[in-house]
Amino acid sequence: MGPMDMESATVRLATPADIPAIVTRWRELMRTHAQLDPELYRLAPGAADTYAAFVRRRLGDRQTAAFVAPDGDGDIAGYILGGIGHRAPIFEVQQVGMIFDLAVRPDRRRAGIGRALVDALAMWFERRDVRWLQVNYSPDNPLAAGFWTGVGFRTLLIEAYRAPEDF
Ligand SMILES: CC(C)(COP(=O)(O)OP(=O)(O)OC[C@H]1O[C@@H](n2cnc3c(N)ncnc32)[C@H](O)[C@@H]1OP(=O)(O)O)[C@@H](O)C(=O)NCCC(=O)NCCS
Repeated sequence: MGPMDMESATVRLATPADIPAIVTRWRELMRTHAQLDPELYRLAPGAADTYAAFVRRRLGDRQTAAFVAPDGDGDIAGYILGGIGHRAPIFEVQQVGMIFDLAVRPDRRRAGIGRALVDALAMWFERRDVRWLQVNYSPDNPLAAGFWTGVGFRTLLIEAYRAPEDF
């Protein structure tokens, strides 16, 4: 598929050739996650290879989409990965567009790239009649909290954990 129009001009669907650059952005994202809780978010051995294989599988899955903001020389300024989530059959709204990962390279932030990536994924979902979007983020991460609020998300649920030592 070709590049998208207008303000999303910098964003296109990811291909397997983007995987190394996606994994580089993912490493930065994991450093942010590690700040949430060092134990719960400690990476397993070989995590980068596991993630690369996960992205490769997802790129071949029609329920999933990944978009990148190319940045010359095979690098990317950011990427987003999402997929269609299925809710319990008790609800009228059966499908939700889930955002799994979003990362923009530190030196390219606050330039609208994150928004363009969310817009592209939202359009991809909408073409499949999926109109609700969902994401998990930490309220303690000011970048994430500012961003998701800034692009129209509002908090509905809080995801809570109890550590073994708090038992
Ligand atoms: C969160 C992240 C993806 C945002 O990407 P970005 O390209 O900088 O975001 P945009 O420039 O498109 O910002 C869109 C809007 O979000 C809000 N926003 C973005 N960053 C913000 C910040 N640091 N503080 C407050 N609001 C912010 C603003 O409303 C902004 O619009 P504006 O620039 O016109 O004011 C980026 O900061 C990032 O990669 N952070 C580290 C990883 C991470 O936390 N990812 C989220 C995982 S849940």
